Amino acid sequence: MNLELTETQTLIRETARKFARERVAPLARELDRQERFPTEIFKELGELGLLGVNIPAKYGGSEAGAVSYALAMMEMAAADASTSVAMAVTNMCAELINAFGTEAQREKYVTRLTSGEAVAGSFALSEPHAGSDPGALLTSAVRRGDSWVINGSKQWITSGAHAGVMVVWARTSATGNKGLSCFIVEGGTQGLIIGRHEDKMGLRSSNTVALTFEDCVIPAENLLGSEGQGFRLAMVALDGGRIGIASQACGVARAALEASVSYVKDRKAFGQAIGEFQGPRFMIADMKTQIDAAELLTLRAAYMKDQKQPFTREASMAKLFASETSNRVCDKAVQLHGGYGYIDEFPVERYFRDARVQTIYEGTSEVQRMVIARESFKLLG
Ligand code: CAA
Repeated sequence: MNLELTETQTLIRETARKFARERVAPLARELDRQERFPTEIFKELGELGLLGVNIPAKYGGSEAGAVSYALAMMEMAAADASTSVAMAVTNMCAELINAFGTEAQREKYVTRLTSGEAVAGSFALSEPHAGSDPGALLTSAVRRGDSWVINGSKQWITSGAHAGVMVVWARTSATGNKGLSCFIVEGGTQGLIIGRHEDKMGLRSSNTVALTFEDCVIPAENLLGSEGQGFRLAMVALDGGRIGIASQACGVARAALEASVSYVKDRKAFGQAIGEFQGPRFMIADMKTQIDAAELLTLRAAYMKDQKQPFTREASMAKLFASETSNRVCDKAVQLHGGYGYIDEFPVERYFRDARVQTIYEGTSEVQRMVIARESFKLLG
């Protein structure tokens, strides 16, 4: 792996960093308090190319690759994890349609996602009783003439109330994983009912809703890929998505570390800055070491993706390690801040809350271990 960034990767990182620090970070605390999805930011993210970092320019993307995407996500997450998850899911939907869509689907939907016209994308796979095991999902799609009719319920759908473009999984036949198909559904389609906004521990300005499909009719041409191919599409999308969440975890952890260093240099106890004591210094040393390891795993997975090498296992390793690191680091950051870590005057309590879901969504830590073991048995057996 080449550890030097290319000019394009550096440019994307700098663009994302500037926007994240100047435009997003100052809003983060208020957005979290108000649980407000920052719609206005998404148009600007589209203009900067950050909603389609790994999408061809022809469809409005930056055509900058997976490493650039990971770097951009790290910067956005360091400013605001909520904004970064909506950015991640939008990029993931755009990549999926770009990879498996027809030319007409790419022209119509990828461009809407990358430009911000759709505001955001949603990835509607999970259901109330089927999260880790998407092969058990029950939402159905039935072909009727030139249409598909979708019925069922989805749960935990990121940006669901705002998304102009959704990818939705539904069962088109009864045969387990092989009976799933994937569809493109436009926000506002009749029969698509947006449920209540979930009151979450963290990522409070990211919108998370349930969706209900009641005889929701979409055109036949909105099938993405072929009938019965849906499970594979979900897995391919999640391989890339896990690099996004690993990057998010690195970004949040880095923000928590930076806040901690600044605090321990300033805060005095027993006659000196607490950062002069060995206990806090060793904590900072461990935090930094673990974050760098997480970043390297994440960039390796992204680099392999750019090189068109198989990266399923490496994406899961990055997601597992980065999300668990982020939780450890944010926990230490709260500890280093003492009582101030527990109130919203300092950002670390938000980082701590935002980090928690990272070991859960886009595949729990336990699912990542299943994938890593499965792939290791294949590759090493
Ligand atoms: N790429 C391509 N194909 C893949 C694949 C991959 N990464 N992983 C599996 N497949 C294929 C397999 O080769 C297999 O194909 P065949 O049947 O032709 O042999 C098929 O898919 C089934 O594979 P498995 O038998 O391994 O499937 P499984 O049912 O045992 O499940 C699992 C494996 C890893 C647990 C998988 O179900 C999984 O990843 N679950 C977690 C789902 C998840 O991450 N959900 C998150 C929701 S989205 C979200 O959170 C987004 C958000 O808004 C933030």
